[in-house]
Amino acid sequence: MRSKISVIGAGFVGSTLVQRLAERDYADVVMFDIVPNMPQGKALDILEAGPVIGYDSLVTGTNDYADTANSDIVVITSGFPRKPGMTRDDLLKKNQEIVSQVTEQVVKNSPNCIIIVVTNPLDAMAQIALHTSGFPRERVIGMAGVLDTARFRTFIAQEVGASVRDVQAYVLGGHGDTMVPLARMCTVAGVPISQLISAQRIEEIVQRTRDGGAEIVKLLGTGSAYFAPSASVLQMVDSILLDKKMIMPCAVYLQGEYGINNLYVGVPAQLGARGVEKVIEVTLSAEEQALLNKSASAVQELVKVMGL
Ligand code: APR
Repeated sequence: MRSKISVIGAGFVGSTLVQRLAERDYADVVMFDIVPNMPQGKALDILEAGPVIGYDSLVTGTNDYADTANSDIVVITSGFPRKPGMTRDDLLKKNQEIVSQVTEQVVKNSPNCIIIVVTNPLDAMAQIALHTSGFPRERVIGMAGVLDTARFRTFIAQEVGASVRDVQAYVLGGHGDTMVPLARMCTVAGVPISQLISAQRIEEIVQRTRDGGAEIVKLLGTGSAYFAPSASVLQMVDSILLDKKMIMPCAVYLQGEYGINNLYVGVPAQLGARGVEKVIEVTLSAEEQALLNKSASAVQELVKVMGL
């Protein structure tokens, strides 16, 4: 039997993700939204691209959670995107309600699924999804690190004129202004970037990475990024569905790792058929650990505001 993936929220991120998933041709995909007819229309449009692109994924749109039943993976993208001038944190209360309602329905219909949370503010929304679902932490994962790292890798590759495939990097911490791009561990084909780029330029690139989401929001004028975010979710789904055991930065509920307890923070994690199969603990310098702690405190503040 084919695997089943449901995507909640058929907006920019959700529908772009459904297109990418359909093109993978490894699962049937259900797209849910509260707006009547809209997910059905988008799903049909994506389905009708199948003969041209060459996939047989069955893509359906719905306003009924029953159609998402027994999904292997559910991706939650429903919520309000950031508007210009708005920080991710402003979105907190608005999206808290949506994510908790959605999670309840998801769990009712797919009690064994793995949930990937995309809605911002990411770490806080992952925490809400974990709390509401009652799932073990292995099965509730936040998507942020792959995206932040992709931005970092893009800028590094541009700076040195290298292929993005040769750039390895990690961005840790919360998905916000306090994220921690680990410049020390960033390499181009194994060569540390400190040997290729000046310290000042590295700092500028780190800052541009931290502001990566806001840079797109400002340019778009309305809405927020969706091409790179949906691609980043795809990489996580690939590793889970195909049990590839790839290591990538994800928001994971930490229980002692990195000295952080009971909080979603971005760390390198190994993803496989069981979800988060391992949290990778990289040895951090005192300065990096301090930055990570600061980032974790920012997430903790949001969690407190949400009343968890
Ligand atoms: N249940 C299901 N869908 C909902 C609900 C709900 N309770 N509330 C809103 N939605 C749907 C909206 O109808 C809309 O179609 O969520 C969709 C969100 O889509 P967009 O507004 O296009 O936002 P998008 O750009 O896709 O971003 C979604 O991902 O990256 C994050 O910050 C971003 O939190 C935002 C989320």
